[in-house]
Amino acid sequence: MDIQFKRHRRLRSSANMRALLRETHLRAEDFIYPLFVVEGMNQRNEVASMPGVYHLSLDLLNAEIEEIVSLGIKSIILFGVPDAEQKDECGTQAFHDHGIVQRATRQVKEAFPELLVVADTCLCEYTDHGHCGIVENGEVLNDQSLELLARTAVSQAKAGADIIAPSNMMDGFVAAIRKGLDEAGFEHIPIMSYAVKYSSAFYGPFRDAAQSTPQFGDRKTYQMDPANRDEALREAQSDIEEGADFLIVKPALSYLDIIRDVKNNFNLPIVAYNVSGEYSMIKAAALNGWIDEKATVMEMLIGMKRAGTDLIITYFAKDVARWLKEEK
Ligand code: PBG
Repeated sequence: MDIQFKRHRRLRSSANMRALLRETHLRAEDFIYPLFVVEGMNQRNEVASMPGVYHLSLDLLNAEIEEIVSLGIKSIILFGVPDAEQKDECGTQAFHDHGIVQRATRQVKEAFPELLVVADTCLCEYTDHGHCGIVENGEVLNDQSLELLARTAVSQAKAGADIIAPSNMMDGFVAAIRKGLDEAGFEHIPIMSYAVKYSSAFYGPFRDAAQSTPQFGDRKTYQMDPANRDEALREAQSDIEEGADFLIVKPALSYLDIIRDVKNNFNLPIVAYNVSGEYSMIKAAALNGWIDEKATVMEMLIGMKRAGTDLIITYFAKDVARWLKEEK
């Protein structure tokens, strides 16, 4: 045969050859593991729409963290699920020094000082209307919500949070939180901003888990339209100008182009949020025996890294850390 062509298969000929040429890798250190904490004692309740994800009361939290740390995971993100009667108009429990997240953070940092605790800074789990800010006449007010977000961040930093992650999508939230943290003496605490957060149906299972579904309307006036790509760069740009230290893109799976755009246009660490719906879809298919869970999860997460993310917030963190250990 005298036709000329390139033999790509030369570089795929064995497992070792493929390992040698692999461009992207997953490591336990890449993952931030989300945990839901609840009031009460001896609570370990599986979230119906998220098999393998639990609501944990604080007395059971340290045992869970023990496992996370032993798998080589270096960071967690905490979500508080207060009792329904603790919710009010302005989400007081979000910034209370004895709120569920503040207590959980103190407890975890005392027992595991090296583990990084990321605090999700939002009001929606704590407001009775389920929106991420103050509501007046059916509208989510921007500037009036900023002060509460800054107070929430400061109370989380006081409790020992290592990283503040505001997820509410009010304009100016990074600037307000940066100012609040600096004035309270927390200029050393970084902000991991949910800079590019779309209004997504993939948050459905989380809203069951966090009991944070809006009681009226939706989040489309503050979260982004999934059809928009250029707007993501504007959102990222302003968060950088306001002082963000990390940029989150959320969701991840249907937004790999956005991850790559952010990577190509800015020079900050990127975090992809592999959200609840992305988790539940794979879990459901795997439980039905329709797909190979491990292979699918690894392919999905490596795709996010290939797209350009540095870190991944994922409910699969423990599973992946375990699989990576087994492979070693
Ligand atoms: C709170 C918040 C949400 C998620 C993380 N922080 C829900 C929302 O905006 O409705 C979603 C996470 C997930 O789906 O896994 N604002």
